[in-house]
Amino acid sequence: MTNEAHGGAIPFHRASLGEEEIRAAGEVIRSGWLTMGPQTARFEHEFSEYVGARHAVAVCSGTAALHLALVAAGVRAGDEVIVPTNTFTATAEAVGTIGARPVLADIDPVTMNLDPPDFARRITSKTRAVIPVHLGGLPCDMDAIRAIALRDNLHVIEDAAHALPSTYKSRRIGAVSEFTCFSFYATKTLATGEGGMITTREGIAAERMRVMRLHGIGRDAWRRQQTGESADYDVKEAGFKYNFTDLQAAIGIVQLAKSDAMNDARRKIAERYSRAFESDAALEIPVEPPDSTSSWHLYILRLRLDHLASHRSHFMAQLREKGIGCSMHFKPLHLHSYYQRQYGYRPGDFPRAENEYHRCISLPIYPDLAHEQVERVISAVLETTNECRRARAKSAHASA
Ligand SMILES: Cc1ncc(COP(=O)(O)O)c(C=O)c1O
Repeated sequence: MTNEAHGGAIPFHRASLGEEEIRAAGEVIRSGWLTMGPQTARFEHEFSEYVGARHAVAVCSGTAALHLALVAAGVRAGDEVIVPTNTFTATAEAVGTIGARPVLADIDPVTMNLDPPDFARRITSKTRAVIPVHLGGLPCDMDAIRAIALRDNLHVIEDAAHALPSTYKSRRIGAVSEFTCFSFYATKTLATGEGGMITTREGIAAERMRVMRLHGIGRDAWRRQQTGESADYDVKEAGFKYNFTDLQAAIGIVQLAKSDAMNDARRKIAERYSRAFESDAALEIPVEPPDSTSSWHLYILRLRLDHLASHRSHFMAQLREKGIGCSMHFKPLHLHSYYQRQYGYRPGDFPRAENEYHRCISLPIYPDLAHEQVERVISAVLETTNECRRARAKSAHASA
């Protein structure tokens, strides 16, 4: 856990897993039942209570969660679904999997989340749903998004892959919309290696997703084997192999119990970063609107490039040279070759997303990041900023 007693390179991410998770996984292995069963049911129950949702359905990934939610919402081939361009490809990929068209929208340059007026402008007679993405864990303007969706009779499916635990107007993300999709991928705030969850208040949709996650079969294998019911089963629909496993659920249950403490630890790191960077004119710190709290899955620092003789990738390379792992969220979807080829998007289509993309850097933020590691990240960022500022002054002087 120590990264050579904190002196070595600082990774961008490290999952916070300990003896409790190892013990819980060990118990599942000893039980002789590894796949979806009683631990999954317990994890779903505890998760729904934690976020304040009526139902929670566990699946094998956040991508599967998005796909199943779209299916449950009745989105079909030929429909349109609006997603922000500034997201991971999985958000739009799930729409494409159905045969529907992901319609990209621009972002609010302050929060970097879906811009409600731009979303409203892109609605057509074919639009069936919108997928707001809480980037880095910062909740979208859900009141504005829901009001537009309600007006046009659209389903709202939140991509909350980053947003456990985030709150919007005192409610946890997961309890706000018709469907909310979480990810438990290895780098997420609750990590089970792979995994996902859909929360919903719609009982019928929850039941359908339970059936569809396991080949469209009415009763899952554990229930058939353990309850002494007949081994007979009925395939009700063409479903998917999207089930979760008890091995993952056992880890998830332990992680969920630590979720608030892990969030506090990430928040403290975010506060230290923001205190250190806020007075530097070349740096822009992330903001939490007054009615929301972030999960702080990501700490996205933005560079004011007009102060620096540097572009973002050069700045990141300098940080890496100093032993600081960093990343970037996200390269907008319309700049990827697939989205250009398949849907005809072009550079320049979403200027605000592009502008933020060129200046954003994600810094390490995870509960196991030690105090001195946070100090090293801060020093490296400030040093690099000063180097790039001096280089700019020098080149301005030379060209004068
Ligand atoms: C915004 C967003 N949505 C969806 C996903 C997909 O989650 P998963 O990797 O669990 O399929 C990710 C994963 O990284 C993500 O960042």
